[in-house]
Amino acid sequence: MAFSTPAAAGQAIRFTRQTDVRVQTASPLVQVRNLEKTYRTSRGALTLFKGLELTVDSGELIAIVGQSGTGKSTLLHILGALDAPTAGTVHCASTNVAALNAREAAAFRNREIGYVWQFHYLLPEFSAVENVAMPLLARGIDRRQALDAASNWLREVDLEDRSEHRPGELSGGEQQRVALARALVGNPRLLLADEPTGDLDETTARRVFELLERLHLTHGLTSILVTHNLDLAARCTRTLRLESGRLHAAA
Ligand SMILES: Nc1ncnc2c1ncn2[C@@H]1O[C@H](COP(=O)(O)OP(=O)(O)O)[C@@H](O)[C@H]1O
Ligand SMILES: [Mg+2]
Repeated sequence: MAFSTPAAAGQAIRFTRQTDVRVQTASPLVQVRNLEKTYRTSRGALTLFKGLELTVDSGELIAIVGQSGTGKSTLLHILGALDAPTAGTVHCASTNVAALNAREAAAFRNREIGYVWQFHYLLPEFSAVENVAMPLLARGIDRRQALDAASNWLREVDLEDRSEHRPGELSGGEQQRVALARALVGNPRLLLADEPTGDLDETTARRVFELLERLHLTHGLTSILVTHNLDLAARCTRTLRLESGRLHAAA
């Protein structure tokens, strides 16, 4: 099945939410065609992607590896509607991402994308449970309901006993588990994880990856993980290497 038009995609999303049933099809959740990205800087043009192609089927857990500066973060930003392509088409979670205006992009991110980064970016003045509730509060969901959902998610990441801790009162691994809960509390279809274990020691990194893997499976997610850790990449469905502006199947 080809991707729907943006208008039809909007209907599909509403249908999904009303019935609270996740529509799982064999069609790709992510389809990128002929992607180009050029940054115009004071020192000239910097071209990152030239004809980059990517298809990710529903349910896949993809690892993206590649040297620093090759554009891995930029690619995730484009998939998550945080940055725009220079040319090419990007369909993501039934949405023509490049066609979204700023308000639509914010709504798309809130509904469809769970994002985790190398650094947790939790808000320091709020407790763990309040941080997890943020995406639901941004959606206008009642505070009590949002905090209840956030508590359930803290239980999912085995941190229910840390719910009143502020980020500064959590270990690095715990902060990333809270960040994962916050990424998933809104029930997104696509999880984008940009080196989420890059700042952790080896054992903690493995535990956070195993949590991500478990949540990916139990919540029927499609996930893209950027990592430098080849052992963790080998445990994903596929590994792709970003090199010379394109993605290549890694051995
Ligand atoms: N907004 C921007 N404007 C100009 N150059 C940028 C911008 N964002 C990233 N870059 C450059 O693009 C390249 C790729 O960055 P990035 O996507 O962060 O790579 P990676 O995640 O693979 O390390 C880097 O050389 C970076 O300096
Ligand atoms: Mg990066």
